[in-house]
Amino acid sequence: MESSEFLGFLKSRSSVRSYTGEQISQDDIRFLLEAAATCPTAGNREAWDVVVCRQEDLLESLADAAFNQQFIREAGTVFVICANYVRSMSRYGERGILYAVQDATIAGTYMMLAAHACRYATCWVGSFDEEEVRGILGIPPHSRPVALLVIGEGKEQVGSPERMASHEHLHEDYW
Ligand SMILES: Cc1cc2nc3c(=O)[nH]c(=O)nc-3n(C[C@H](O)[C@H](O)[C@H](O)COP(=O)(O)O)c2cc1C
Repeated sequence: MESSEFLGFLKSRSSVRSYTGEQISQDDIRFLLEAAATCPTAGNREAWDVVVCRQEDLLESLADAAFNQQFIREAGTVFVICANYVRSMSRYGERGILYAVQDATIAGTYMMLAAHACRYATCWVGSFDEEEVRGILGIPPHSRPVALLVIGEGKEQVGSPERMASHEHLHEDYW
């Protein structure tokens, strides 16, 4: 793949907050998981898990737990990306907490981009009540829900918001 093609792929993704309700297929779920399984992970501990939610009542509860973000209800599928502390902390101790969150975030990002490659619309949702999500899905204490990755068929094509110029992020050699 040419680098310009890769950049074009990244630029063509934007967060979608309006969905038809069409669920993604089991084959595509497997594809997303296969993509995530290639991601870098601290010490190869793969300290992440995902709860794939497709039941209507679960999506409703997740939307409530995300402070009533209605589009979560409509999306059809939500991947709840979790950090698995035990897998990482058993090798890295306290530092493993940070590594598990990083592992989960990278795995979620791979899944989001894999979904985009399958032409699904997505939205990364970080604003939710963790304890509520934990309770709804039975997530154990050694695991932390990091993000709700909303995936589905988008109702509309939306553009990306304005960004900082890339050089504004850059510090060369020293901050
Ligand atoms: C950590 C994080 C938390 C986010 N939480 C939410 C959220 O709770 N609800 C929402 O609609 N979008 C959420 N977003 C999506 C951002 O609003 C969106 O990525 C940003 O505005 C840039 O737009 P783009 O994704 O279209 O490029 C979140 C994104 C990130 C990375």
